[in-house]
Amino acid sequence: MATAPDVRRLPRFSRTERALHWVHASAFFVLLGSGLCLYLPSLAQLVGRRPLLKDIHVYTALAWLVALALVILAGDRRRLLADAREIEIFDDDDLGWLRRRGNPQGRFNAGQKINVIVTAALAFLFTLTGFFLWYGERNHAFRLQNALVVHDWLMYISFFLVLGHLYLSLVHRSTRHSLSGITRGWVREDWALKHHAKWAAQASPDD
Ligand code: HEM
Ligand code: HEM
Repeated sequence: MATAPDVRRLPRFSRTERALHWVHASAFFVLLGSGLCLYLPSLAQLVGRRPLLKDIHVYTALAWLVALALVILAGDRRRLLADAREIEIFDDDDLGWLRRRGNPQGRFNAGQKINVIVTAALAFLFTLTGFFLWYGERNHAFRLQNALVVHDWLMYISFFLVLGHLYLSLVHRSTRHSLSGITRGWVREDWALKHHAKWAAQASPDD
């Protein structure tokens, strides 16, 4: 959509933040797709090549972890650290927002802060259970009885979390302009003032 020349833009996500998001998102969808083919008998039958799917799943997991590490090592770590500090603090406005009192929000609202924390916890637990599934086949001392059940439950939780995330970022009229931030790096100042008033008040425009 064309933006009127007098609309002010606020820089929202740096290249590093966007790279981290899209590496994580793309690997997630491949892992979800290949995982579902391993999980659902109908899909497994349709594809019919379980060993290949398992390889795709495990190598994507490995590539995902390496790519995340590379983005962190080569990217703007100071910025990521500042994000982490911001996300771990819940102030009175965040608590008010969660109670639907409409308090002004900083760069991330309280729901987004929770989304980041849950997403990071899920990534860690997927990696842990995935490792036991993979290595447990090779060394029986690492075979954990419930690793597969936990891995499946993590898939259910992340599936519905991402569904909600996609609704807010692609469909919901009032929030979907956020897509501009995670693709082009900037958002309109009027949108920012409405959704992230405390952040917009102190952010400086792009141009
Ligand atoms: C580092 C990350 C991950 C690793 C190392 C990993 C590893 C594995 C392995 C080794 C299996 C095969 C289990 C078997 O059938 O013997 C598996 C299955 C599966 N994975 Fe992952 N995985 C990871 C992340 C994910 C993610 C992010 C999802 C979904 C969003 C996912 C969904 C599934 C599903 C649905 C299955 C099939 C489970 C079943 O057959 O009941 N995995 N994973
Ligand atoms: C096509 C797929 C996706 C789209 C269009 C999308 C869109 C977005 C947008 C627009 C934002 C920025 C929101 C803001 O302005 O603050 C964002 C942030 C974020 N995304 Fe995604 N995303 C996608 C996939 C994913 C996936 C698969 C995950 C996790 C598995 C994920 C996790 C996150 C997290 C943790 C944040 C920061 C917190 C938040 O805004 O909720 N995204 N995404």
